[in-house]
Amino acid sequence: MKILDIGSLNIDRVYSVDHFVKEGETISADRLEFFNGGKGLNQSIACAKAGAEVIHAGAVGRDGTFLIQLLKDSGVHADDVQVLDEPSGHAVIQLTPGGQNCIIISHGANFCLKEEYIDRMLEKCDPGDLLLLQNEVNNLAYAMTQAKKRGMKIAFNASPITDAIASCPLQLVDYFLVNETEGSYLSSLQEGSSPEILAALHAKFPQAVIVLTVGSDGVLYQEGDTVLSHPAYRVHAVDTTGAGDTFTGFFLAGVCKGLDAQECLRVASLAAARAVTIKGAANSIPDWNEMEDFAKQFAEKKGKG
Ligand code: RIB
Repeated sequence: MKILDIGSLNIDRVYSVDHFVKEGETISADRLEFFNGGKGLNQSIACAKAGAEVIHAGAVGRDGTFLIQLLKDSGVHADDVQVLDEPSGHAVIQLTPGGQNCIIISHGANFCLKEEYIDRMLEKCDPGDLLLLQNEVNNLAYAMTQAKKRGMKIAFNASPITDAIASCPLQLVDYFLVNETEGSYLSSLQEGSSPEILAALHAKFPQAVIVLTVGSDGVLYQEGDTVLSHPAYRVHAVDTTGAGDTFTGFFLAGVCKGLDAQECLRVASLAAARAVTIKGAANSIPDWNEMEDFAKQFAEKKGKG
């Protein structure tokens, strides 16, 4: 099973700040750094580093061709990423000393994907392959419909939440990977605990596997009547940007490798924990073979109490 990720590629401008800027306020950044990002690019790299075969589809401007090279260097098939006469997508990220972020996206080339291009990329796939989508490119509904016609499975990380999601045929989705905010929106549950959100998502999309990340409380999972959970690994957070993407990539790579669901949750949680200890999005994604060493450190720490 291979993965086709039709997703964003961004240049992340990360401003280190004391606190997030408030309405009417002007603040100074301690530092500005540039990182490689975009939920699509991050997730493709995570899938590839975790050992899955991944094709990336998307678009950059001439200022972003280095992002295509990064995908290739990370083991992603990226020959068909388009270079367009548009600025590349970028993100303006405020990063606090506690590692929390808030993000503004400028879509740029990410929103210039034509139906013909999506068709051409889907032709590279076989029935049973996985289409991976996030909500940072245009034409999502078209991609979902066409992929399903070809017998592909669909994984949707419904992030960030925008009105575009309402026009997507979500009943076609096989895997939802969402946080609590996204899960509440998709399930139409205004308020509720994480188990209630999980139950509401399962009731609305009984055909799908639901993976609901709940921050420092870990992750919940439901497939049919099977409900699983995994705690989050405790680490010193330097930068949470891209941690969710790392989780998604490692989880789906585990699925492609035929790991059982509990093991997929374990490796994805480990990889996400590792990612938050390093600044930046794409560059904080670990290799698969780092995971067991990382896990050993946890076992040692636990032993020492
Ligand atoms: O999920 C993190 C990503 O969101 C960043 O890399 C940024 O580009 C935004 O797309």
